[in-house]
Amino acid sequence: MEQKKFYITTPIYYPSDKLHIGHTYCTVATDAMARYKRLHGYDVCFLTGTDEHGQKIETKAKEAGVTPKEFVDNIVEGPRGVKDLWKLMNISNDRFIRTTDDYHVASIQKIFKKMYENGDIYKGAYKGKYCTPCESFWTESQLKDGCCPDCGRPVVDAEEEAYFFRLSKYADKVRDLLENTDFLQPRSRVNEMVKNFIDPGLEDLCVSRTSFTWGVPVDFDPGHVVYVWVDALFNYTTALGFLNDKYDDYDHYWPADYHFVGKEIVRFHSIIWPAMLMSMEMPLPKHVFGHGWLLLDGGKMSKSKGNVVDPYILAEKFGVDALRFFLMRTFPFGSDGNFSNELLIQTINTDLANDLGNLLSRTTAMVGKYFGGQLPAGCKTWENPESFDTDLISMASALRGAYEAQMEACAPHNALAEVFKVIQRANKYIDETAPWALAKDMEANGARLAHVLYNLLEATRICGILLTPFMPESMDKLFVQIGASADIQTWDSAAVWGSLSETAAVTKGENLFPRIDMEKAIAELEEAAEAARKAALPAIEVEPQLEEKVDFDTFCKSDFRAVKVKACENVKKSEKLLKFTLDDGTGTDRQILSGIAKYYKPEELVGKTLVAIVNLPPRKMMGQESCGMLISAVHTEKGEEKLHLLMVDDAIPAGAKLC
Ligand code: MSP
Repeated sequence: MEQKKFYITTPIYYPSDKLHIGHTYCTVATDAMARYKRLHGYDVCFLTGTDEHGQKIETKAKEAGVTPKEFVDNIVEGPRGVKDLWKLMNISNDRFIRTTDDYHVASIQKIFKKMYENGDIYKGAYKGKYCTPCESFWTESQLKDGCCPDCGRPVVDAEEEAYFFRLSKYADKVRDLLENTDFLQPRSRVNEMVKNFIDPGLEDLCVSRTSFTWGVPVDFDPGHVVYVWVDALFNYTTALGFLNDKYDDYDHYWPADYHFVGKEIVRFHSIIWPAMLMSMEMPLPKHVFGHGWLLLDGGKMSKSKGNVVDPYILAEKFGVDALRFFLMRTFPFGSDGNFSNELLIQTINTDLANDLGNLLSRTTAMVGKYFGGQLPAGCKTWENPESFDTDLISMASALRGAYEAQMEACAPHNALAEVFKVIQRANKYIDETAPWALAKDMEANGARLAHVLYNLLEATRICGILLTPFMPESMDKLFVQIGASADIQTWDSAAVWGSLSETAAVTKGENLFPRIDMEKAIAELEEAAEAARKAALPAIEVEPQLEEKVDFDTFCKSDFRAVKVKACENVKKSEKLLKFTLDDGTGTDRQILSGIAKYYKPEELVGKTLVAIVNLPPRKMMGQESCGMLISAVHTEKGEEKLHLLMVDDAIPAGAKLC
């Protein structure tokens, strides 16, 4: 029988900033699905990558003083970049596309030309609104309160000669696809798309730009670059070798079974994408699934809002599998969910440490303690089973079916809920059978005890198989502990109760999911987040230079002098002020008060030669007179304000004029 194929993709990420937990969510979900399908015996192709063109990247690169390619290279390939993150998160993608890859660029040029030649792309003039951060064109009527309807940020006027794609021509076909098939999931997204975009009338889409250059050049019209979304969407096919020689499995894998995408880009995937594929006479993907967002304090995470959660910090602290599990277990895939560190730790403690961790460690410990790590032959069967024996066995035997139904419906959170029902049932079974009581009389109850423990190992094995797509590394360790060989870690064997050898070698290994001290962990996370925030600040920030000019005569009126500190002390009742007694060369002591007590101890300054402006009118501060001002340099370093008094060479005599 021919192996069934499954092609699944994540969106390709904008490498304009480092990725956060929201991006990780989507990739982990796709990975879990891909692993599930592989476990199920499918021939899987899982694609992810980066979407590297567009004005946003060009602008960011300019700000950073590097070329756009250098800029994206650093975020994609550099330390703690996109590829590193997917490696850390144990993402099993079969392919990684970068839209700056030569083969992709060449294919996009051919695709664009083909749609131009078939008349679906034509030249016109673009007049409208553009959201630079989203790289999206909008018509006036689509704006929300005059701003981008996706991100709410201001849009700018845009007018330029441009190519257009005849999106309007495909409106009816796209409507039909959305309304009358299961192409777009979950179903609630269909209404959003039809009501917001199709009902008001689809307008042709501007698909080239001339106001910047960082994009795929339109080869037959220099000066135009292909609109970034056309470039990006076709990645799903160029990465299989469509119109290029780099790969040759387009015919094998296309059409995709699933595009997993976040809800804000459903519009591109469910309207523009099928319309362009129709124009190219290519088969349409079978499904687009629009998942929800991970929110922080009720709002979307975004770098510009400064409220992103760093997946590196979480994975390093709690473990990759615990983080993967949390993301999939907690949030219903089609809906938004509120992320919090408390919720993460609570999920780890409840599901992983308490339920799964305890089941595994208690079971393996008891097999070790009562049977030296190996149950006796014959323990699989028991003549007169109790109701709780049959209950556990029938639940575990039926688990694969319930789990499969949920995974096929793209509801990984429900699939995991099914697994945890069995884990909880097994823990209850330990209480019901009380193995420690049976062990008191091994002669009378040894066989019964062995059967109970076998049932527990077997339930653990089945759950372990079905948890593999979510926590691959930990489940490998679990299989070692319960003595399950590779041939009984399979999809088929998950439906066959009794597959585990009666005399499997069981070892109580390391605790897979240690309990986390919530208070301590939260404090540490806050510290790490603060350190990361500081590290992300520019190392040194200096005041911007003033534009306003001062005429030379005015400047010359300021009398700057070298002054020598004769005495210095804190001003009573003031936390800020230091009082200086200064030799200014006139023979009469000068008193200046300065608000720098935070930066200097008075005794450090005695004997130093400083710079002061001496012809300011005297001021009273805390009841004391201050005649002039000491000059200092101020800047911000890692978010902290720093101040340095200007000190000059001791050889400069007090009273010397600075000019
Ligand atoms: N480059 C486009 C995709 C092109 S696909 C042909 C893009 N990139 S992105 O980096 O901005 O976003 C990638 C994915 O991450 C999107 O599906 C987006 O919804 C998802 N997420 C970004 N923040 C998210 C959350 N806070 N929560 C969940 N997913 C989020 O869009």
